[in-house]
Amino acid sequence: MYDSERWVWQEKVASMRWRCDLCVVRVMSFKDECRNNDVSEWCGLKEDVLTRVEKVDVLLSEIYKDYPNEKCVGIYQGTIPALVLRDIELIKQVLIKDFNNFQDRGMKVSDGESEQNLFLVEGDTWRVLRQRLTPMFTTGKLKTMMPLVLKSLNRLIEYSDKIVDQNMEHEIRSLAAKYTLDVIGTCAFGVDMNAFSEDENVYREVAHRVFQRSFKSRMLTMLNSFFPGIVRKLGFNLTNKELFGFFINLVNSIINEREGKPKIRKDFMDFMIELREEGRVTRKGDDKVAELEMNDALIAAQALVFYAGGFETSSATMSFLLHEVCQRQDIQDRIHEEISAVIKKHGGLSYEAIGDMRYLEMVFDETLRKYPIVGFLLRKCGNTYTFPGDKLKIDEGVLALIPVRGIHHDPKYYPDPEKFDPERFTPENKSKLPFCAYMPFGDGPRATALVRMRFAKVQSMIGLAGFFNKFKVVPSLKTNKHLEIDATATTLASRDGIWAKIERR
Ligand code: HEM
Repeated sequence: MYDSERWVWQEKVASMRWRCDLCVVRVMSFKDECRNNDVSEWCGLKEDVLTRVEKVDVLLSEIYKDYPNEKCVGIYQGTIPALVLRDIELIKQVLIKDFNNFQDRGMKVSDGESEQNLFLVEGDTWRVLRQRLTPMFTTGKLKTMMPLVLKSLNRLIEYSDKIVDQNMEHEIRSLAAKYTLDVIGTCAFGVDMNAFSEDENVYREVAHRVFQRSFKSRMLTMLNSFFPGIVRKLGFNLTNKELFGFFINLVNSIINEREGKPKIRKDFMDFMIELREEGRVTRKGDDKVAELEMNDALIAAQALVFYAGGFETSSATMSFLLHEVCQRQDIQDRIHEEISAVIKKHGGLSYEAIGDMRYLEMVFDETLRKYPIVGFLLRKCGNTYTFPGDKLKIDEGVLALIPVRGIHHDPKYYPDPEKFDPERFTPENKSKLPFCAYMPFGDGPRATALVRMRFAKVQSMIGLAGFFNKFKVVPSLKTNKHLEIDATATTLASRDGIWAKIERR
């Protein structure tokens, strides 16, 4: 509940699709100058809110645009109040300065086995898992993965060569997905996922299904948003048994194959096997926080989130980048020029070589600015909280929603925001961007940690560098300059795919 003297709920009730569920949303807005109980000054509600089917980040982005003078806007998800934070100072407060009060995402509705993953877990369990899983991505480990990533790149090049020979246009997202799946398979699980084969492929199928939510899961989430806590109380859970069974089997078979011992590979599974050998794990230096049984189900839950996190986000980024440069041969030429020079300098592609590809990195950063794959962030207020310097007070359980997409398209930070302009990310321009105005990987302790972000960048940039070194993309008949967003997808995706023709350089 909000401090009712200072908040006025607009009695407009409308329906919207919330994470593809039907929920009731009420929108109110908080006016900067109206914090002294001057209720009459509360500003009004956008007239046409919200009878439609819309993707949450697009909706939040519209709310962000529609209330340009507000620091935040209140909405309901079912009966759960939420604040859409517009002001980057408030955002900084939630994500970083008062992180301890906003540690959880508030997305976990049950205690199902698959929900015990790093993305969803809360409280002390998150603290333990985060501390114990972070060393998995050191720079040294990234470097040792390079030969594996380069093998996947060779397969990408062979496959692209075949496409060129067929002289046909191609769906680019599926091409990028094949590459990232191949990388994840070898780097994380030591498994050849046969990602480039045209045959039906169970690993590819699973990668897509991780983001699809079953009818049951959607209904339970909706029920929970009207009656918070009910799903847990009734003993239901959201785990999709068939899908989770796949990860349990994958984990079991890898552990058996390695005879329960880590190999020299030092990949994700080796790391997990080492933790499994400890049996029960705690937070190092603070074993009172919580103790977790590192069993196969807990490992499978982490496997699921790394599989999904590593695959979907990176392949989407690569394909949106290819879409943009398909219409800008000048950008492709500049990328090609840079790659040729860097490869000459380093004698080939490597971790160090990628570090020298400054222009490609600018193009990558601008892609995630224009197309933030995860378009909003979510935090739950742990205890009643008053924003410093403001009289805005929120109660425990209120959700803070951060409209990343809205911020990335705000002309205040990015003039002419629909224009694809890598120059926004020259080192000089980047240093002028206000803190929290660029958040494709989130921010604060709960964000994609620096080294995971580096992994995402390195695997995508190696793929792109190898590709642009040999090929270019040109518009084809099916190329759609203005992509329609797929409202049913969890992360950002184009409704009709991304089409282009690949040509040799
Ligand atoms: C372009 C690639 C990627 C993008 C855009 C991306 C984006 C994000 C975002 C926005 C969040 C939420 C952050 C927040 O709430 O502040 C997140 C969390 C997370 N990501 Fe990524 N990510 C990417 C790649 C990866 C990769 C490669 C992995 C794993 C190998 C990964 C694993 C995770 C995990 C485990 C979390 C949850 C962290 C936690 O709650 O402690 N992500 N990611």
